[in-house]
Amino acid sequence: MNPSTRAACVIGYPAKHSRSPKLHGHWLERYGVDGDYRIEEIEPEHFQAFLLNLSQHGYVGANVTMPHKDAALKLSEPDERALGIGAANTLWLDKGNLRSTNTDVDGFVGALDSAAPGWHDRITSAVVLGAGGAGRAVVYGLLERGLTTVHVVNRTYTKATALREAYGSSVEPAHWEDLPKLLEGASLLANATSLGMDGQPTLGIDLSTLAADAIVSDIVYVPLKTPLLAAAEERGFTTTNGLEMLLHQAVGGFKLWFGVRPEVTRELYELMAADIPATS
Ligand code: ATR
Repeated sequence: MNPSTRAACVIGYPAKHSRSPKLHGHWLERYGVDGDYRIEEIEPEHFQAFLLNLSQHGYVGANVTMPHKDAALKLSEPDERALGIGAANTLWLDKGNLRSTNTDVDGFVGALDSAAPGWHDRITSAVVLGAGGAGRAVVYGLLERGLTTVHVVNRTYTKATALREAYGSSVEPAHWEDLPKLLEGASLLANATSLGMDGQPTLGIDLSTLAADAIVSDIVYVPLKTPLLAAAEERGFTTTNGLEMLLHQAVGGFKLWFGVRPEVTRELYELMAADIPATS
């Protein structure tokens, strides 16, 4: 490798099956960037030493995934988003300082912007399923776009109330039993739980009472079309899936490391979708 080649990596444990090298590799080629993107499978006990010596390992930055997102936040200088979400997934070296952000917000809102441009001009409230790491990023993105009410439904109710404590009274925590009522006339439903993922139970939700022009979004991307999205499509709702979010969340890191803002194209989507089951 040329010594001037800029390299980034994804750090996780496990990480072997990450799809990020394929995604960033496509952009590196498309934009003719002299760069590289690799997988670094690092055990939790070695993560701190690895991250704090990122440049000695040959990297200008990194994506961080399970189980390192919380540690990455503590070991870096987080921006407002990473701090607000409580987790960092994208890091870069800035004049020797290790800085971090959370691009899961861009993933979620970017997918919505692309599927339903101007959605936040007509939608003031949403229903979010899940209050884990992904749920926090989804709720953060919705509030950043000015929604006034975000109902957060979670199996563990205290995690939904913690979101209200963190983000304020626009967040309305709710129990799973409240869902049928909340869905009546709802314009935006986002699944941020792992339900519907291959090997997990599905979300048995009746979508018949959603608003006629509703948007249904799912963070799950294996399969691409979860039972929730299949039901939403059948009713003619606009949908966004987890692969679209994965692609949009990757844009910010590529720009920070390689200096080019890459485009999420249909061609890239098809390339990445090729080895993911379409339905369960
Ligand atoms: P992530 O970072 O992907 O959000 P996570 O923090 O483990 O992962 O959160 C997973 C989410 O899926 C949580 O909202 C979880 O609900 P709990 O907070 O009650 O654990 C939700 N989830 C996972 N399995 C579930 C199940 N069988 N039924 C309902 N919710 C489930």
